Amino acid sequence: MYSNTMSGGVRAVARKVTAPELNSRKVRAGARPITMVTAYDYTMARLVDEAEVDAVLVGDSLGMIVQGLANTLPVTLDEICYHGRAVARALQHAHLVGDLPFMSYQASVAQAIESAGKLVKEGGFESVKIEGGLEIAESVRRIVQAGIPVMGHIGLTPQSVHAFGGFKVQGKGDEAADKVLADAHALAEAGAYSIVLEAIPPDLAARVTAELGIPTIGIGAGRACDGQVLVCTDLLGMSRGHSPKFAKRFVELGDAIVGAMKAYVSEVEAGTFPGPEHAYKANNARVPVGVDRAEDAPPTELRH
Ligand code: KIV
Repeated sequence: MYSNTMSGGVRAVARKVTAPELNSRKVRAGARPITMVTAYDYTMARLVDEAEVDAVLVGDSLGMIVQGLANTLPVTLDEICYHGRAVARALQHAHLVGDLPFMSYQASVAQAIESAGKLVKEGGFESVKIEGGLEIAESVRRIVQAGIPVMGHIGLTPQSVHAFGGFKVQGKGDEAADKVLADAHALAEAGAYSIVLEAIPPDLAARVTAELGIPTIGIGAGRACDGQVLVCTDLLGMSRGHSPKFAKRFVELGDAIVGAMKAYVSEVEAGTFPGPEHAYKANNARVPVGVDRAEDAPPTELRH
């Protein structure tokens, strides 16, 4: 199967990655590590999909990345759905995961099932991600029973930023490590198909990964996990200010964007942009005196 690309070419369409397929990707069983990145809009999602990333997460990190908030707490279910619809239109290959935002599931099991259902019905999501361990295991079980695949998220769960006293590494020390392990087992037993491990020591992540039959997807959790996830603007080098230690910048796109914007400003100010190659053909009949004339009639449609 083939489809048109934004630039007019064609590309082969790979089949969609599914939650059951991701669920089978244990590296110790010989599987390829899972790759996941966040995306919040159509254009970015289209590029991510072209790169054959396995899964795209519309994370509640959109509060910080798209909205400029200090944390993820104000993000709403409707906002996740809005961005989900834009990203869903772009994905032909990658699996689409939607975050359950703060206070869309903590109140009750019923609230969690309704919110997960809304993400699928209104956001176009194929699975949902939920922060927490033992305390939300029953909600996970019931969402899964409703036919919605669930990705867990433990360790540094940003929705608990105030309880943690900041964005801090979790699972340090025996007691904290035991809690991470207990949370991971509770989620796996409840039917989660994978678990994000955020900001925990790599030896603890390795132990969780070894003990669980479902894949772990790390972010700041070392390389022993069955996969990795990063925020797209971090890996593309678009973040300004403080970035977490684990956020490797694979390219400096932020600098490239600033450079391109400066070039645009100077060409407009110097009168060298737009050049003749960026203009439509002139309407000979109505050209004011002193303006260049062209041979042909004006175009009947505007094209990019
Ligand atoms: O919201 C988000 O982007 C996330 C990832 C960092 C895992 O939860």
